[in-house]
Amino acid sequence: MSTDIAKFNAAQAALAYIKDGMVVGLGTGSTSAYFVRLLGDKVRQGLRVKGVPTSEATRNLAEQVGVPLIEISQVSAIDVDVDGADEVDPQFRLIKGGGGALLREKIVAAASKQMVVIADEGKWVETLGAFPLPVEVTRFGFALTSERIHEALAATGCEGAEVSLRVAGKANEPVITDGGNYIIDAHAKRIPDADALGAALKNIAGVVEHGLFLNLAHVVILGKAKGADVKTL
Ligand code: 5RP
Repeated sequence: MSTDIAKFNAAQAALAYIKDGMVVGLGTGSTSAYFVRLLGDKVRQGLRVKGVPTSEATRNLAEQVGVPLIEISQVSAIDVDVDGADEVDPQFRLIKGGGGALLREKIVAAASKQMVVIADEGKWVETLGAFPLPVEVTRFGFALTSERIHEALAATGCEGAEVSLRVAGKANEPVITDGGNYIIDAHAKRIPDADALGAALKNIAGVVEHGLFLNLAHVVILGKAKGADVKTL
């Protein structure tokens, strides 16, 4: 419950970054959902924005709460992207993709002039890696790709790392992303060199994208039980 209040407080503080006429990236997850609802309230009060959703779930929510949407193919840049995170370190490096939307989330973040990360303060970590790193992979050859991911983890100093195919439901069916791919969760435990791991993962055939967001975030808003801490690099 207190985590929900912290998420809400982070989302509310992010509204300060939204100006009339902006194109806004709309993140995915429970914290982003608070933001989308709050943005819907502002739209009803007269704010004019257009949202670029990072998942079908966020698209549905934005439509429900009345945030006008625009296709990413129709914009040359996004003014500000507001999205959650699973972990944030002091260099504003992120693990994202707990909700499985990392591919669209990264495309939108990379297309944005400013990325504002909203999270409860429990997401702040000294070193990334306790949260399993999501890696989106093609279904074709996923078992081999998974082995290569395991090797990349070992080669970049993630000792004792394990990998698992993300499954859900009673039948333990593989989770399928909005892009039609699988997710391999890389249980790194500790990622001593995020740049090296990110580069190694990108180099594996079959890896579509990984959840390390490096050099993308500009502002981190950490929600607390009361208010929020706004951090800039
Ligand atoms: C979804 C994400 C989310 O931003 C991340 O999982 C945080 O979620 P929540 O706000 O529910 O804690 O990356 O792919």
